[in-house]
Parts: sequence; structure tokens; C-alpha cells
Amino acid sequence: MFRCTDRMRHVLAGLLIAAGVAGYASQALAQAKPAVAAAPKPWAQLGRVATPDEIKAWDIDVRADFKGLPAGSGSVEKGQEVWEAKCASCHGIFGESTEVFTPIVGGTTKEDIKTGRVANLTRPDYPQRTTMMKVSQVSTLWDYINRAMPWNAPKSLKTDEVYAVLAYILSLAEVVPEDFTLSDKNIAQVQQRMPNRNGKLAYTEMWKVSGKPDVQGSTCMKNCATDMDVRSMLPDHARDSHGNLAEQNRVVGPFRGADTLQPPNANPAALAKAATTKAASETVQIAKGTAQKPGDQIAKDANCLACHALDRKLVGPSFKEVAEKYKGDAKAPEMLAAKIRNGGQGVWGAIPMPGNAQLSAEDLQSVVKWILEAGR
Ligand code: HEC
Ligand code: HEC
Repeated sequence: MFRCTDRMRHVLAGLLIAAGVAGYASQALAQAKPAVAAAPKPWAQLGRVATPDEIKAWDIDVRADFKGLPAGSGSVEKGQEVWEAKCASCHGIFGESTEVFTPIVGGTTKEDIKTGRVANLTRPDYPQRTTMMKVSQVSTLWDYINRAMPWNAPKSLKTDEVYAVLAYILSLAEVVPEDFTLSDKNIAQVQQRMPNRNGKLAYTEMWKVSGKPDVQGSTCMKNCATDMDVRSMLPDHARDSHGNLAEQNRVVGPFRGADTLQPPNANPAALAKAATTKAASETVQIAKGTAQKPGDQIAKDANCLACHALDRKLVGPSFKEVAEKYKGDAKAPEMLAAKIRNGGQGVWGAIPMPGNAQLSAEDLQSVVKWILEAGR
């Protein structure tokens, strides 16, 4: 993930200032006719040219034509080891995923591999849209795994491990056989077997204005389709299985999640409005707020409630269970603060909690205190 460090901010500010001053300077030069000495360059000391190594470290994208793909290889067998050690806790042994994480494999057939179009994508009643159903380029998978996975330790895989784990995923989807070794040499052939390789929309004339790409979005403003076809809905029984959606949304933007504690047939517009009003009044309270944010507010702002609820298990344990477990344990506050900051797994099951390095020491203390009081 991209984090803007102070150093980077400094360099960026330098660049912006430099650009502004340069504009000014060239204007001044253009007005003052001949023989004016070149303006001094106060920005010359700011920033420095990025080194080739720095550029290389950033420039990791892999294009659809495989430009940028590093040489390497990995077998399905090796990939299974990587998968079971580093991926299965979230994505399931067979890529079917646990209840909360994206399913990777499933829904594709031998026929799809022939046609390059995934037939199940056209079925509104098909319950899942897995990664292997949607993705059209194998390079996208390589790139995504290399840059973003495992979720709790991105960029930690070696090049050959990325090849191997991708080979394993492809073998689960029967795109490659079980004894296959994927490499930069044969990945283009594998592309020819991707189940949804022909499912991608091509960049056509439709998005061009007078022969140029439509950067204003004006082509989309005519003859728009007016009827929307919602293809998937939460089944009623699952409405609030991860808590109240309305309370988990961010307070920006016009679209609020439904209040899923209400019955499914309640008027959705009225519920959404009530949620927005509630959220807005909460924002005002925070803005006026006291010096120390209360623990429940920290938990909300830090998105802890995406995975935890007070009184029942979601992805992580309920805070009541946590309070119960550590009742009377004098070392618990310190231990839990470290665990929340650094993340970890194994105490409540196999699913790991990612680290929360953004929390200040005060906020950590306050949120832990609130959690440990949750049992009372
Ligand atoms: C801690 C849980 C976790 C672990 C471990 C993990 N993932 Fe993921 N994975 C996720 C989440 C969450 C997403 C969705 C991320 C998003 O949409 O921003 C995801 C998305 C993906 C996707 C893309 C899904 C899509 O259709 O967009 C792939 C492919 C993937 N993971 C592969 C892997 C591989 C390979 C590993 C092991 C090297 C791994 N993951 C380990 C949580 C995890
Ligand atoms: C992506 C999901 C996720 C998020 C976000 C998350 N947690 Fe967790 N949390 C978990 C999981 C999973 C566990 C169980 C880990 C284990 O078994 O060791 C856990 C465990 C815990 C525990 C018990 C630790 C122990 O060792 O007994 C506490 C306390 C906790 N989380 C607090 C927080 C707080 C506070 C936040 C927000 C700053 C937060 N969590 C955000 C998933 C999450």
C-alpha cells in the first residue's frame, strides 16, 4: 500500500513549488524582452532524481503482453505448499474461501476453457462470481498476487513462489495439469486457456469521440440504459450475519447500507435516510469531541467493527468473549495492545488479524480498556 512519508511529502512539495515557480519564471522571461539574466532557480536544491534502483523497486507492473514479468518458474506441487502455508487460512484449501474472503476458484468448466467465455456469468441464479470466472488475463493474477498477497504480508513472496502458487490456483481450476510447472516461457500458452479470456470488453469505437478516446465521459450520456438489473442480493437469512451494514459504512457519500437489523421488507429508502442522519449526528459529536476519543469510537474509526462485534463472533472473536477470556489478567492490556498493533493469529482460530500500525499509543490503550470492559 502506498504511504506518503514526510520525506515524500517534502519532495512532492518541492516539485509542486518548482513547477509553479518555473511557470512564473518563464512568463517573466517572455515579457521582459531581450537580455534578461536567467531567473535564479531557488528550487534547484529541492528533491533529487530517483535512482534506477528506486524506480525498479516501484516498477513492478506486469502487462497483458507480459512486459514486466520477471523470469522464473514454479510447479503446482511447490505452489500447494505455499498455498497451504500462506493463503489457505483466508482462501480455503481449495480456493473456495472462508465465509468472509473472496472465493478464487470455482464456477468454470472445460467448455469455458475452449470458448474463452464463462457461461455461468450469464446466469443470474449462479451464487458466486469467483476470481477464475471473472479474470481474463493470467498476467493480472500474477501481478495481483505479487503485489498484494498474502493480504497480511504483501510483497513477501519470492518470484518463484508467485509462479508456483499461481500454477496451483490454475491447476485447481483445471486450466493446467497437476504436474505442470508455470514459467515466463509458457505463461503465454496458459493465457490461451484462461476460461474468461474472451469475456473482457474491448476498447471500441463506442468510447471514442471524433476518433479520440472519450476523456469527458460524454459518449456515456446518450442513449443510456435506464433499467437496472440487480443480479445478486443478500439472501434474507444472511442480512445481518456480519452485523448491521448501515453502521459499518463510511460517513461519506450518498449511499448508505441498509439497516440490516430491520426486517428485509422494511422500506429501504426510509431506513437509509435514518442511517445517514444518525451517522451525520455522530460525526458532529466527534468533531466537537473531547481530547481523548472513547474506545468505541476508536474501534469504529479504525474499522475494527468490520471484523468484530460486541456480542458475537464475526471474522474475529466478539469483544465480550475477549473480555471474558482475559478477566483479572493484569498483563492483558499490554499484551492485547501489542497484538492489535502488530496483528497475529492462532489464539482464536486460523484466521489472522492484520496489524493496525496507524493507532497511537493513547488510542490503543483506550480501545483495549473499552474491550476489556465489554464483558461487564
Ligand atoms: C489474511 C487473509 C488473506 C490471506 C492470508 C491471503 N489473502 Fe488473498 N485476499 C484477501 C482479501 C481480503 C482479498 C480481497 C482484497 C481486496 O479486494 O482488496 C484477497 C484477494 C485475493 C485475490 C484476488 C481476488 C479477486 O477476485 O479480486 C487473489 C488472486 C488472492 N487473494 C490470492 C492470494 C494468494 C495467492 C495468497 C497466498 C500467497 C493469499 N491470497 C493470501 C485475503 C487474504
Ligand atoms: C480483518 C479483520 C480484523 C480487523 C479489521 C480487526 N481484527 Fe481483531 N481479530 C481478528 C481476528 C481474526 C482475531 C483472532 C486472532 C487470533 O486468533 O489470534 C482478532 C483478535 C482480536 C483480539 C483478541 C486478541 C487475542 O490475542 O486474544 C482483540 C482484542 C482484537 N482483535 C481487537 C481489535 C481491534 C481493537 C481492532 C481495530 C483496531 C481489530 N481487532 C481489527 C480480526 C480482525
